[in-house]
Amino acid sequence: MIGIIGGTGVYEIVEHGRVERQESISTPYGETPEISIFKLHRQMVAFIPRHSPGHDNPPHRVNYRANVWALKELGVRHIIATNAVGSLKRSIGPGDFVVPEDFLDFTRSRPSTFYDEKTVHVDMTEPYCRNLRSALTGYPGVIDGGVYVCTEGPRFETPAEIRMFRALGGTVVGMTGLPEAVLARELEMCYASLCLVSNYAASISSSKLTITEVLEIMDEKKHELIDIIDAAIRDLKMEQPCPCPDALRGADINDG
Ligand code: HPA
Repeated sequence: MIGIIGGTGVYEIVEHGRVERQESISTPYGETPEISIFKLHRQMVAFIPRHSPGHDNPPHRVNYRANVWALKELGVRHIIATNAVGSLKRSIGPGDFVVPEDFLDFTRSRPSTFYDEKTVHVDMTEPYCRNLRSALTGYPGVIDGGVYVCTEGPRFETPAEIRMFRALGGTVVGMTGLPEAVLARELEMCYASLCLVSNYAASISSSKLTITEVLEIMDEKKHELIDIIDAAIRDLKMEQPCPCPDALRGADINDG
């Protein structure tokens, strides 16, 4: 089974397949939003709306642990995440897609691990799954690579923060990519993110950033985003080896 954790505006992907069932799953971390299970290209897909429909969960309150845990429980091995982002570079503009290869984590108040009771240090030398990344790239308008900066939000950034993120090598900035990517790694799942640039980051082009411009671009580009995910699921080479399923080997301090 392939999992999709969908951000704002991608809920319609479910209509591409034939929905078999919809269920909310109970996890040790709480209930998930309603997950839709459907078939696409002879592949079972579990779609979870990250914020739950209606957007009652702001980025800092999303139950990332419940979402990732539930997908694991459903038998998901590969997670494709979608994230709206602001661009830190003039050369990457609204409407572009980015599949990052690394991240900078500036979140601060979110439960960020499944391992509170024992010491587990997962390796993040290759933060996103190379196979999933290559399934998502190769389409026009999709930029392969870049550094995703995750802020705590829910506010947008200040000009000084944007200057800092640029100086640190950031490419795009968003609020939902972490700790999700790490949690997937902790459960030995493959994970990659398809980011849709909805705006230039604060102070880069306009004098004020509004959620309206973010939502407008999401709406304009959602069909393209869904087409990319659809093609990635069709083209994903499941049998190709990657390090993700062995992420816990050498990570537990008690095994060292
Ligand atoms: N900053 C943080 N998160 C975002 C942005 C942004 O500019 N655009 C969409 N999500």
